[in-house]
Amino acid sequence: MKIAVIGAGYVGLVSGACLADFGHEVRCIDRDLHRVEGLRAGRMPIYEPGLAELTARNVAEGRLSFEHDLAVGMKDAEVIFIAVGTPSRPEDGHADLTFVYEVTREIAQNLDGYAVIVTKSTVPVGTSDEVERLVRSLRPEAAFSVASNPEFLREGAAIGDFKIPDRIVVGVEDDRAREVMAAVYRPLFLNQAPLLFTDRRTSELTKYAANAFLATKITFINEIADICEKTGANVQDVARGMGLDKRIGPKFLHAGPGFGGSCFPKDVRALIKTGQDYDVPSRIVEAVADVNERRKRRMGRRIIAACGGEIRDRVIAVLGLTFKPRTDDMRDAPSIAIIQTLRDAGGRVHAFDPAGMEQARDVLGDVTYFQDPYQAVAGADAVAIVTEWESLRALDLKKIHGLMRTPVLVDLRNIYVPDEAKAAGFTYIAVGRGDLEA
Ligand code: UDX
Repeated sequence: MKIAVIGAGYVGLVSGACLADFGHEVRCIDRDLHRVEGLRAGRMPIYEPGLAELTARNVAEGRLSFEHDLAVGMKDAEVIFIAVGTPSRPEDGHADLTFVYEVTREIAQNLDGYAVIVTKSTVPVGTSDEVERLVRSLRPEAAFSVASNPEFLREGAAIGDFKIPDRIVVGVEDDRAREVMAAVYRPLFLNQAPLLFTDRRTSELTKYAANAFLATKITFINEIADICEKTGANVQDVARGMGLDKRIGPKFLHAGPGFGGSCFPKDVRALIKTGQDYDVPSRIVEAVADVNERRKRRMGRRIIAACGGEIRDRVIAVLGLTFKPRTDDMRDAPSIAIIQTLRDAGGRVHAFDPAGMEQARDVLGDVTYFQDPYQAVAGADAVAIVTEWESLRALDLKKIHGLMRTPVLVDLRNIYVPDEAKAAGFTYIAVGRGDLEA
């Protein structure tokens, strides 16, 4: 099928490349000419393992191309995916749909023959209805359908999540759209990926409900970790004991500094706003947002406490800045609030991250960056592990100990074994594992 994907970002580019890999003919459209030219030259605008190779192969085999001009890109397309950004509006947390409606107007102007317009971006309940109303108002005579098809892609695992999804959710209001969308995903359907058809509003809400639930699960285990610290229990063992119950499952039960990223914080805020708009407040999700935000700063204060409560002019090394491993994305990363707390207390921050330092420079204030974790810890009074990058999981603790001024290790991702860290001479502080007293 001929498919147009509008927005060559985390969602649109991965979706476009994977749809091309299914055998469809895909045009990825982006209004950022620099980004389009980069993609045509094989330069990826995002850090996503495997994406460069997947893109190159499909471009070489003639199934994937990049276009700056939307009219050209969507010509003859049977399906047009809207995969543009829907960031949080700072003032009220509602999803900013400016780009979605701008693109919708452009699609309407260029519609030429039946097409299914698909909202793939995460959009508040009712947006797809609004897209349909807008197109209808601009082109009353045009033949088209609007569908919702939210993505469930994790950064760093997006290609696998697209190609081997737990489920595909498609919201449609007519049979023709249903047939077209079934054809889009037939290659996946054949390998048993459940293709769930709902109405559009149900599809839109399913996305928010799924992300808010995952954010709730993480926040729940983070609060259990707090109780573990006071009661001397081990949160990793509690999580294991919980997760063996098939109704709970082991995933997303890793206690840490709080969740970040471009989705959970945004989607939790948007769902809260939807609840407020319809006067059905979702108090659990409101608590999740509040608890998570407080936790990030609390983790900064935990580092300060581990240094005896005073860090003025002392050096704190922060290893791992991105919101999770295998990405360069700093959006809402816990490291931002943690480092702000350290700097507010007069600390000097040394930082290392395998992939995120370029992006970090734009969001972190006065931080000194190093290309190597050992350089970052030299002369430091404490080292905090904030993101569980593979390359941070087997540091030479004895070497680290020898480089530091005072050997304090705050492991916010529980990647080290307390006894080993203590045997290496560290004052070791973790999350939900034993007492906090250094
Ligand atoms: C998430 C959803 O997983 C994905 O399905 C959706 O489409 C987009 O949002 P993503 O934001 O890329 O994906 O990352 P994810 O792996 O979900 O982690 C989100 C945050 O939760 C990260 O900051 C991560 O460190 C944190 N997290 C995750 C935990 O603190 N503990 C966990 O057990 C899991």
